[in-house]
Formats: sequence, structure tokens, C-alpha cells
Amino acid sequence: MKMIFLGAPGAGKGTQAEIVSEKYDVPAISTGAIIREAIKNQTEMGKTAKQYTDQGALVPDDVVIGIIKERLAQDDCKDGFLLDGFPRTVPQAEALEAMGVEIDLVVNIFVPDETIVERMSGRRVCAGCGASYHTVFNPSKDGETCDKCGEPLTIRKDDAPEVVKSRLVTYHEQTQPLEDFYEARGKLATVVGQEKVEDTTALTLALIEEKKQGR
Ligand code: AP5
Repeated sequence: MKMIFLGAPGAGKGTQAEIVSEKYDVPAISTGAIIREAIKNQTEMGKTAKQYTDQGALVPDDVVIGIIKERLAQDDCKDGFLLDGFPRTVPQAEALEAMGVEIDLVVNIFVPDETIVERMSGRRVCAGCGASYHTVFNPSKDGETCDKCGEPLTIRKDDAPEVVKSRLVTYHEQTQPLEDFYEARGKLATVVGQEKVEDTTALTLALIEEKKQGR
């Protein structure tokens, strides 16, 4: 199955993508994670991208489209994949169609802006494997290191409150129009993000199963 997870920054795309990817054994591809890795390794692409991510702006379309083209050409994507954070603009969605990619389902995770700001302030991310936690809603066992790989938990630079605000503005202006884009194609299904991660997971899995059974 080929899926897209759409939603505001902090809506829980990454958290759900990790769970769904494990359950259905499809790769979860996060353009945000690929970009953060490039920034950490100080590659040319990473240096360009940093100027945008630090301000809560989107990285230029041609850069992310190039990332996705390269990633989807890899062998593990041939039986399906889950895109987390791509596409994020109408030109990116059009580029995906131009690549001949047929998406089965777009899961739109809706969470109000006020809740997003609260969630971002408590997010902690593993410096090693990138797993995402929350100090209150989804804490790691000891609150300081990752349950999966033991590396320390860190705060993402773009989770600073002023950057979160500008990421939300960017989302409403540039990414939300994708709801109409995929609605018009009969692919969009919306999940209202719940207070508990497992409740959002239950709603998301129900949508995927419905789609698999052709309902
Ligand atoms: P990216 O990493 O994709 O960031 P984002 O879309 O802003 O999304 P986040 O990773 O912040 O949030 P999420 O929805 O995955 O939420 P999470 O599950 O972590 O992109 C970063 C940057 O890269 C962008 O700003 C942009 O500059 C650039 N970029 C990336 N893709 C691009 C593209 N296609 N085009 C151009 N530029 C691009 O959850 C958030 C927190 O809430 C966590 O702490 C989690 O534990 C907690 N939580 C999750 N679910 C729940 C729940 N149900 N209840 C309570 N807490 C919850």
C-alpha cells in the first residue's frame, strides 16, 4: 500500500508512521528526518536546507523532490511505502504524480493549533535513532534516554516556540491546500488526533483496513 500522512507540524505523523510502518512492514519515509540527517552531517544539501528549517520555512521544492525521487527508487519501496511530511506543497504533489506514483490513501491527522504548541514544547527526540517522545504524553522509561537504542534525548531546534508558530503559518498557507488536492482525487481520509497516541493509532489502522478491504 502507498500512503501519505498529512497534518500540521506536531500532529503526530511521525509517531503514527513508525507504528504503521512496523505493523505493515513498509518503509516510513520522512523528508524531515532525511533533511535533519543531512544537516547533522553538514552535506551541501544539509547546509542549504538549514537556512530554511531554522526559520520554520519549507525547503525548496526541487530539493525535496530530488530526495524523494532517489528514495522511492530504492528496492524496499517496490511493494509500498508511507510518506511522512511529503508532499507539502501542491507542486510536490504534482511532481509525485508526474513520477507515476499512484497513492492509495492519504491520512490527514487533524489537531488544533493550540494543542500543537503544547505538544511541541514537550517533544524529545533521540539523538541516535530519531525516535520521538513526549515528556508527558509519551515519555521514555527514564525520561532521559531512548528506550530503543539508549542514546540521549534532545530538543529539536525547530521546536522553539517562535519557530513552531512560523511552521504553523507555513503549514496553513502551503500544505493545507493539499487537503483539497487529494479530496478531489477521492484519496483523503481525516483522523482527529486524540489525546492518547494509541487512540489515534486505532483510528488510523481502522482507516487503512477499510481501504485494504476496498470499502
Ligand atoms: P518534519 O520533521 O516533517 O516536521 P513536521 O511536519 O513539522 O512534523 P513534526 O516532525 O514536527 O511532527 P509530527 O507530525 O511528525 O509529530 P510527532 O509524531 O513528532 O519537517 C521538519 C522541517 O523540514 C520542515 O519544517 C521543513 O523545513 C523541512 N521539510 C520536511 N519535509 C519537507 C517537504 N516535503 N518540503 C519542504 N520542506 C520540508 O509528534 C509531536 C509530539 O507530540 C511528540 O512529542 C509526540 O510524542 C507527541 N504526540 C504524538 N501523538 C500524540 C498524541 N496522540 N497525544 C499526545 N501527544 C502526542
